[in-house]
Amino acid sequence: MTPIGLFYGSNTDYTRLVVDQIIEEFELVAPNLLTIHNVAKTPLDKMLTYDFLIIGCPTWNIGQLQDDWDNHFLELDSLHLVGKQIAIFGLGDQYGYPESFCDAIGILGRKFIAQGAELVGYTSTNGYEFSYSAGVEDDRFMGLALDDENDSEATPDRISEWIWQLVDEFDLVRFLEPIVG
Ligand SMILES: Cc1cc2nc3c(=O)[nH]c(=O)nc-3n(C[C@H](O)[C@H](O)[C@H](O)COP(=O)(O)O)c2cc1C
Repeated sequence: MTPIGLFYGSNTDYTRLVVDQIIEEFELVAPNLLTIHNVAKTPLDKMLTYDFLIIGCPTWNIGQLQDDWDNHFLELDSLHLVGKQIAIFGLGDQYGYPESFCDAIGILGRKFIAQGAELVGYTSTNGYEFSYSAGVEDDRFMGLALDDENDSEATPDRISEWIWQLVDEFDLVRFLEPIVG
């Protein structure tokens, strides 16, 4: 049993490929802490078995959740998430959908907060071009926004910085093996 569960949904594999990058990055900085679940195949109450959650959801259909998240969204109403720390990443297309860029981050983020979770992993909106996002609160994304349609070269550094931020905010140092010299 790992302390962190990563739950993601993906219609056209962009998010799945980002999950692969997150796995690689975690193996470098905080190995053996992560279990991956595709929400198309895993019931959402499995989230209750983890203290820390990383959530991946692209925005689809102009401001909507990805299909599998959308199909299971109402199940979140019955999850008691007090004591969980949750970090969300979302994929979107800032030029194709500038008025609903990465809305899914905010739709899920506000739901998790309503269910009692603490949301971490907020990031700056600097470096993005869009006019509105439901994923923004107080001028910050409520998670990590990625745009692999237009800005894929920025993705590896954004992921890497975010993972270090999560190591700090989840306080993962306590799970790391000491280096015996
Ligand atoms: C029909 C359609 C609607 C979309 N709507 C949005 C949107 O409202 N906001 C956004 O940021 N991206 C939107 N996107 C872009 C997707 O989020 C983007 O392609 C993402 O990388 C898909 O991730 P996935 O392959 O993991 O499903 C849309 C894409 C399509 C094809």
